[in-house]
Amino acid sequence: MSSETSSQKPRVAVVFGGRSSEHAISVVTAGAVLSAIDREKYDVLPIGITTDGRWALTADAPERMAITDRKLPSVAELAESADGAVVLPVDPTSREVVYSEPGQVPKALGDVDVVFPVLHGPYGEDGTLQGLLELSGVPYVGSGVLASAVGQDKDYMKRVFASFGLPVGPYEVIRPREWEQDPSAARKKIVDFAAEHGWPLFVKPARAGSSMGISKVDDLAGLDEAVEEARRHDPKIIVEALLSGREIECGVLEFEDGPRASVPAEIPPVTAHDFYDFEAKYIDSATGLVPAPLTEEQTARVQELAVQAFDAASCEGLVRADFFLQDNGEFVINEINTLPGFTPISMYPRMWQESGVSYAELVDRLIQAALRRSTGLR
Ligand SMILES: Nc1ncnc2c1ncn2[C@@H]1O[C@H](COP(=O)(O)OP(=O)(O)O)[C@@H](O)[C@H]1O
Ligand SMILES: [Mg+2]
Repeated sequence: MSSETSSQKPRVAVVFGGRSSEHAISVVTAGAVLSAIDREKYDVLPIGITTDGRWALTADAPERMAITDRKLPSVAELAESADGAVVLPVDPTSREVVYSEPGQVPKALGDVDVVFPVLHGPYGEDGTLQGLLELSGVPYVGSGVLASAVGQDKDYMKRVFASFGLPVGPYEVIRPREWEQDPSAARKKIVDFAAEHGWPLFVKPARAGSSMGISKVDDLAGLDEAVEEARRHDPKIIVEALLSGREIECGVLEFEDGPRASVPAEIPPVTAHDFYDFEAKYIDSATGLVPAPLTEEQTARVQELAVQAFDAASCEGLVRADFFLQDNGEFVINEINTLPGFTPISMYPRMWQESGVSYAELVDRLIQAALRRSTGLR
């Protein structure tokens, strides 16, 4: 084929945007990843997924992918055409990506050696895209199918962690049928849980992210509204007791010899927002403390737990593990994120920066880890 395939450099497809509520954040992150990829070492193919799921060819234009004047970028604005589609064939004998537009002869875009899925939430971070890449036989950055799915589902995530002896807070799951067929029984289940563990409760979609659909409920009066809000994101919801204490995060990154933990960070209590929500995380840009002011023992403990969480869920590449340090000195794991916030000001890159790994090195290490692995059994 043409010049696109003549180079000896590995070709990285940066896939971003997507159908989840975290579309815009993904675009911002992809802009940073595109800027950081060493072009001497890798060729790059940006592929944006629109909010309705079309794979679009987008300009390699990181400067158009930032938040400007609190306005969020989107793939629709970056797409080269309104109806062109990029196809990664589900044929493991070829790594050729094809581009087609209605009424035109499909165009070969050359081979892809590795995919960097810069996607958060459903249809990206949850194992679905990973499954497609498995079928296609193309290596990809980050966790495989199972770990991605576990990391996306706060219900199964807690069950996996608990089964590996990791400390998990009290929770209750309300499955779709329970709320739909007998809401009063489901409500009673939640009220009984509150009677045991106290109000307020956190009501969350089981599979969302970026604090979408999460409410802190102070009493019974606010419960139904919180459940409906969570159910707008996922018919399966999870109810948790309030975990008081400090919010501590720790990054895990896969090196040649295995996973290592970063210095931890602390997310200070947010005053302008009720909790560490979407606005606090992305629009105002997080003000986490790196490193977290912890004792040496606390640091070692949270790092140990973070690597255990990485292994418990069979993660690969990277994970950010989030904890509460309770007043009794014990850590409780809140969740893991298999593709954590990954802009240069996000906590995960900042924790690695503080640990001696720059953003560009991080991107490079993740691509290298992906290239070392073959597809299958993931
Ligand atoms: N059980 C809890 N107790 C206290 N605060 C919580 C609890 N669950 C969530 N939060 C707060 O809400 C934020 C978002 O919740 P989280 O479970 O991390 O959801 P997401 O996957 O959307 O990040 C947390 O960072 C924390 O500030
Ligand atoms: Mg979180």
